[in-house]
Amino acid sequence: MNLIEVKNLNTYYGESHILRNVDITIRSGEMVCLIGRNGVGKTTLLKSLIGLLKPRTGEILFEGDSIIRDRPHQRARSGIAYVPQGREIIPYLTVEENLTLGMEALQGGIEKNKRIDPFVFELFPILKDFLFRKGGDLSGGQQQQLAIGRALLGRPKVLLLDEPTEGIQPNIIKDIETAIKRIINETGIGVLLVEQHLHFVRQADRYYAMQRGGIVASGPTSELSKDVISKFLSV
Ligand SMILES: Nc1ncnc2c1ncn2[C@@H]1O[C@H](COP(=O)(O)OP(=O)(O)OP(=O)(O)O)[C@@H](O)[C@H]1O
Ligand SMILES: [Mg+2]
Repeated sequence: MNLIEVKNLNTYYGESHILRNVDITIRSGEMVCLIGRNGVGKTTLLKSLIGLLKPRTGEILFEGDSIIRDRPHQRARSGIAYVPQGREIIPYLTVEENLTLGMEALQGGIEKNKRIDPFVFELFPILKDFLFRKGGDLSGGQQQQLAIGRALLGRPKVLLLDEPTEGIQPNIIKDIETAIKRIINETGIGVLLVEQHLHFVRQADRYYAMQRGGIVASGPTSELSKDVISKFLSV
């Protein structure tokens, strides 16, 4: 089933035309990767999906229904979770408090949902060890794990991840890769991942390549050619 279907999307910043006629789909249980050089519009696409940016034309369907007029919190409640580039955890709140914020997306919000699903600690044991540390005292990789854990606690149907391995030590990149594969296998959600690390990109089922705001190539990652890799990944 298509979780997300984007049709002919055009997003602008003021008068600058960023996304150009973007069409993508994300299905349940699959990992889709969005690749492209710096500044082509990858983050703009994710922000358009979650409602932080308002596309000028085009359509976004979530499980078949239009969400283009829904506000960000409504889209979060519908089941779209987002891990922003740069993570954006709250530095002065503890790990536990940061995680709890993720449950705002649940029915009843954080008032009615207090228990942290232990699946998050299974995926990222460090978060349990550091439950009472301040978010700002964690390493970049640990903060990334916290941001993914927080997003998962909203029990999303689709998870959007914007460069989760950017600036992170290689051993933690592996942990994050493993966790994302486990999340997909064990919960059946769909994942859209913006990623630059080739090894991680290859773990995805399908890819879309973006250039100047348009999707210029797509297909199964098993068919990623050297040409596409050198054009769209900075490796
Ligand atoms: N708030 C903004 N106002 C105006 N232009 C912006 C704004 N944010 C981004 N842009 C421009 O929009 C274009 C797309 O930016 P976007 O952040 O979507 O790229 P990206 O593919 O995510 O890049 P990166 O790989 O560096 O994260 C860029 O040319 C950028 O300069
Ligand atoms: Mg970006």
